[in-house]
Amino acid sequence: MIKIFVANWKMQKSYSQTIKWCIKNNKELAELSHRKNIIICPSFESIAKVQTLLNKNINIGAQDCSAFEKGAYTGQVSAISLREIGINYCLIGHSETKINITNTDNLNNSISEKYFLLIKNNIKPIICIGETQEEREKNITYDILKHQIDMIINKIKKEEIKINELIIAYEPIWAIGTGKVPKPEELNNTLIGIKKYINSILSDIELTILYGGSINLDNIEEFKNMGILNGFLLGNSSLDFQLFKKIVLLSISA
Ligand code: 13P
Repeated sequence: MIKIFVANWKMQKSYSQTIKWCIKNNKELAELSHRKNIIICPSFESIAKVQTLLNKNINIGAQDCSAFEKGAYTGQVSAISLREIGINYCLIGHSETKINITNTDNLNNSISEKYFLLIKNNIKPIICIGETQEEREKNITYDILKHQIDMIINKIKKEEIKINELIIAYEPIWAIGTGKVPKPEELNNTLIGIKKYINSILSDIELTILYGGSINLDNIEEFKNMGILNGFLLGNSSLDFQLFKKIVLLSISA
């Protein structure tokens, strides 16, 4: 059942554009968020202002956090600070945060560190996983996803972290911002694979599965009734409030 909509604004809106959006749309957004869990992820510098402008029942998320607790890490933002300002969700592993990083194992390790720090600070991580176009063409999507999941789950086991909920956002890299989406059957099979794999390792877990990548008004109908799917992660389609609202309303209509 669809219950979560995450708006990832990336670096698309400036500070003043973000403020205007919030002032203009807060009332309607608050009404929407009575029906579904809406999580708005503005860029870091706008978070505190957005918190003052949006209704309290709208969740505010961060787009990333540091893999380090504190220290000499210029430009990074810690999970501790996010907790102190009252953030309750944080994306980690988004493919756009991986640009120019070539050692994927280091990268996956750093995502598991971020996961650990967020959990420690009572912030819900939204773990983004996904394969590139090249990996898809080589038919290794499932291996790639399993590897990305393993890095997090190994950490959970090693640190003996007690969790009862895991939020996974499947975002095929080839679908982000390209207008391309998987066929519903392909997506369904991939999500079933992800769910089975996680359940085989962590049995008593409440798993929330989101999809992200070029969701728009033309394709939402194909995905909204997919039983395994719990929500969407929207980039471009979350920038214009009326478009975002239409997608939310269409997703929750029968
Ligand atoms: P688009 O919806 O613009 O493809 O972006 C998806 C995404 O990256 C959300 O995190």
